Amino acid sequence: MEKKIEKVKRIKGELRVPSDKSISHRSIILTSLAEGKSIVKNFLKSGDTLTTLNCYKQLGVKIEERNGILEIEGVGLKGLKEPDDILDMGNSGTTTRLTLGVLAGQNLFATLTGDNSLRNRPMKRVKDPLTQMGAFIDGRENGNRLPLAIRGGNLKGISFFNKKSSAQVKSAILLAGLNADGKTEIEEPVKSRNHTEKLLKAMGVNLKVKEEENYKIILDGNIEKLNPIEIDVPADPSSAAFFVAAAVIVPNSEILLKDVLVNPTRDGFFRKLKDMGANIEYLNLREKAGEEVADIYVRYTPDLKGIKITKVDVPSMIDELPLIMLIATQVKGETVITGAEELRVKESDRIKAVVENLKNIGVEIEELEDGAIIRGKQKIKGGVIDSFNDHRIAMGFSILGLIAEDGITIKNAECVFISYPEFYEHLEKVVEV
Ligand code: S3P
Repeated sequence: MEKKIEKVKRIKGELRVPSDKSISHRSIILTSLAEGKSIVKNFLKSGDTLTTLNCYKQLGVKIEERNGILEIEGVGLKGLKEPDDILDMGNSGTTTRLTLGVLAGQNLFATLTGDNSLRNRPMKRVKDPLTQMGAFIDGRENGNRLPLAIRGGNLKGISFFNKKSSAQVKSAILLAGLNADGKTEIEEPVKSRNHTEKLLKAMGVNLKVKEEENYKIILDGNIEKLNPIEIDVPADPSSAAFFVAAAVIVPNSEILLKDVLVNPTRDGFFRKLKDMGANIEYLNLREKAGEEVADIYVRYTPDLKGIKITKVDVPSMIDELPLIMLIATQVKGETVITGAEELRVKESDRIKAVVENLKNIGVEIEELEDGAIIRGKQKIKGGVIDSFNDHRIAMGFSILGLIAEDGITIKNAECVFISYPEFYEHLEKVVEV
């Protein structure tokens, strides 16, 4: 599907964007391993999270929906069933990496594959530590690429330095560590999203966290059980980010985004925009199921200024960096992003996707191996954009289309269903033409 986004007068209104993708994935994975029935309210129904739901059904977990609420009959820490066919991970890196961590400690054999994008993403980052813990994993390129086969083993705890500050890698090792002999220790130079730690604690696991020079987690092995819980998933800050960006670049806009997760490991995009001079307020800041949540109010302010984004800033805004690059074309001065080489191994090579598309529509950007340099105050004429089948690229350039003289046409725009199926309907609701 092609989608044309035309220039608008302004953005105005109120939205509750869909629920958080990271927490929705974890809500299924962790409660599947609990002893007894858990409840998940406001589960995100999108391509990626339905992949997780179907995967755990295939692994023998009973999951039912009643009045929009999920009921998950946990099978216990070692109770998953050997799947009788290949597990299809679709486009979802989170499902794949976390599930490899889960399967590492189960007495079963499984094969995992995925779509064209996922089959090209690196899995060695979880294959290596899980193998060191005692799992048997093999696949293309020595187990770096899907399809992968895994046979769970008797695991032992390890000490792991999570150099890339990847929450998927951290979570995979923690999930394996639940069934391992002895302690599992993970240290990361910059703290990555901590939803797995929060949920494990809420389910009764005595997990120790130290926040000194590095962020460190210590998990005792052979956990007896996870208690069932009730989870109410807040709105996804990575989805809210598109509408915040719209209100920041379209003159005279204002928008209220309700019920958004603002966990400090996730809200780096909003904080950086404030540093750039944006008018963003967290209203009604509260706690919901152990996570910080707020209504985010944004009002357009002219003349935002360019900034520097470096390695320490990256984990808390990793999925929003393509959007920052697009906003940076509209601010005063230059924006320099470095330390973001992980963008190259997301659903697409997101540095290349942004650079190629911007250049194709006549906008200047300098590509760096680990980021980009963007000059501000550029006119956007518009044109045709390739989404590279990457949901965040499709949505980011749609937002840029709102200020493009001739509009922007997105090719393969249907990929938004991966995280935000209602994106174009929501956009329609808040634009004034
Ligand atoms: C995620 C972690 C991040 C992020 C992804 C979701 C998660 O990936 O980009 O969209 O839910 O743990 P990495 O762990 O690879 O940085």
